[in-house]
Amino acid sequence: MAKKVQFVETVLRDANQSLIATRLPYSKFEPMLETIDRAGYYAAECWGGATFDVCLRYLNEDPWERLRKIRAKMPNTKLQMLLRGQNVLGYSHYPDDFVKLFVQKAVENGMDIIRIFDALNDTQNMKVAMEACVNAGAIASGTISYTTSPVHTHAKYVEMVKELKEMGAGTICIKDMAGIMGPQEAYDLVSAIKDAVDLPIDLHTHSTTGLAFMTYLKAIEAGCDIIDTAISPFSGGTSQPATETLAYALRQLGYEVDLDDTCTKQIADYFKTVRDEFVADGTLMPKSMATDTQCLTYQIPGGMLSNLLSQLKQMNALDKFDEALIETPQVRRDLGFPPLVTPTSQMVGVQAVTNVLQGERYKKVSKEVKAYCRGEYGRTPAPIDPEVQKLILGDEQPITGRYADTLAPVVESTREKLGDLAKTDEDVLSYIAFPNLAEKFLEERKAKEENVATYSIVEC
Ligand code: CO
Repeated sequence: MAKKVQFVETVLRDANQSLIATRLPYSKFEPMLETIDRAGYYAAECWGGATFDVCLRYLNEDPWERLRKIRAKMPNTKLQMLLRGQNVLGYSHYPDDFVKLFVQKAVENGMDIIRIFDALNDTQNMKVAMEACVNAGAIASGTISYTTSPVHTHAKYVEMVKELKEMGAGTICIKDMAGIMGPQEAYDLVSAIKDAVDLPIDLHTHSTTGLAFMTYLKAIEAGCDIIDTAISPFSGGTSQPATETLAYALRQLGYEVDLDDTCTKQIADYFKTVRDEFVADGTLMPKSMATDTQCLTYQIPGGMLSNLLSQLKQMNALDKFDEALIETPQVRRDLGFPPLVTPTSQMVGVQAVTNVLQGERYKKVSKEVKAYCRGEYGRTPAPIDPEVQKLILGDEQPITGRYADTLAPVVESTREKLGDLAKTDEDVLSYIAFPNLAEKFLEERKAKEENVATYSIVEC
């Protein structure tokens, strides 16, 4: 029997985030939800990542309500979200009570699969979210943040995958956020993981460097079960490779693909017009759609390269670009080879630029890098260079164990503080995740409701 390959559609989350800074309002994709639901996807990635923040910050949408509306329109397809372990949707660690309640409420509001990762691949930072997800009855997709370094061996990744299975992972995701994984690496890593655990494997990559189609194909040859793709008008460049193209090629090669071509055509036609609107208003920039192989040369994610450039431009020091590029891998080595994913990519990049501009290493250090050296982000893949650590921390001792264990519970105290501003657990969670944004949102909602109430009294 032909081997089946399943698809996760990313247009609602990662493609939306990678190409147009997550600016798709619910109203723009609502007309296509029923079609996506009928198309035969394994799952639709539609929540988490930056969607929550952007809903509150720019779109004036309640992210929880967005999730419920998507759920109502898509009863047949699994909904998937991205969650940064103990950081949930932010960049700092939260107490366990928040992580647990957030995961529970995400599932109650309609989530089926939670893709859980940690920037450092520290499983201690994933455990609470993984267990909460399993307890709530959803699929925990235990995720590797893929990177290359002398300490990121297949043996290490396999060890991590076994731990994730112990924690209840229903699937394993290899998350290549920078699109730097080549076809041979994909083949070898997927083979190694398949040999070690009998869980479905989902490969997630980006088209940034142009490798993605080849990488998916070789991963599938090694037994990869699920791939992440974006409907063609929202594919390519910093997004995922195109859904329809992969469906076509895989069928030609004899694989079984469940997608309905009539549905994917309708979805593509619709999102073409949406894309054109974002091109017209300048949100979708041509460079986001282009292939950029620089990241292969420097082994630095594309987003990080453009951040380095804009930082140097702000400091009027563009002539230091080459030096900053050489300094970046040095800083990464000093810090124990963290994967270059948010927030470690920013920390490493800013530190490299600072070192170059100061003309001296670690003379100035951000509070994030200090916290990292104290162990607040978790266990680093390799030990931090002891001299660098001493330089940064002085006599201060790094913590041992899990940082979240030092944090006091936050849910009940926040609920009390918010009083009648928060009507539900979801409101409390939004506030803890993004206090300023959520407060504004909740206050505006309250004002609106009060206006409506006054109006209706007048009407009587
Ligand atoms: Co991604």
